[in-house]
Amino acid sequence: MFKVVRGDITELEVDCIVNAARPSLLGGGGVDGAIHFKAGSQLRDFCKTIGGCVTGEAKITPGFNLKARYIIHTVGPRYMTGAIEEVLELKSCYLSTMKIFLKQKLKSIAFPNISTGAYAFPKILAAKIAIDTIIEFIQINKITAEIIFCCFDEENYNIYQQKLIYKL
Ligand code: APR
Repeated sequence: MFKVVRGDITELEVDCIVNAARPSLLGGGGVDGAIHFKAGSQLRDFCKTIGGCVTGEAKITPGFNLKARYIIHTVGPRYMTGAIEEVLELKSCYLSTMKIFLKQKLKSIAFPNISTGAYAFPKILAAKIAIDTIIEFIQINKITAEIIFCCFDEENYNIYQQKLIYKL
């Protein structure tokens, strides 16, 4: 089941929320900053022990003070030229995250619009990659789950609503 919501991902009561992190996993601005702020300093301390994360990969941590039980941290690509590598890295963020979600037997997950803020990925292209990758993954793996796209800005919210109406 897909849902598009507009708002702050740190407020969501789900099994896990996804963080658009930086490679150090030690916090930053945007959604990363909001998640670290709400989860508390224990998150940073925990992240110091797990060795960072390469672009396109993902790592799970507890949610600490968040309502979500877990956080899956993934590092999106910085949009530079639109080369295929950048597209594949963003696709890999969604795939790596969904693999952890499946392995941990979680039932609900909320995604921010990875790479569409500081990393400047075009929003329409990023939404297409996110939706297509997740739909393909849940079909192949026959997963029943609640998948939430949490959009902070109106533009992303409208894009996701339109794309999902068209898909489902
Ligand atoms: N809840 C949900 N979405 C949010 C929130 C929030 N509280 N705050 C920001 N966003 C949205 C932005 O509007 C954007 O659409 O998250 C999306 C991703 O933006 P960024 O957080 O800037 O992430 P990204 O583009 O992937 O860049 C990652 O930025 O802050 C640093 O440490 C971070 O280096 C990393 C880089």
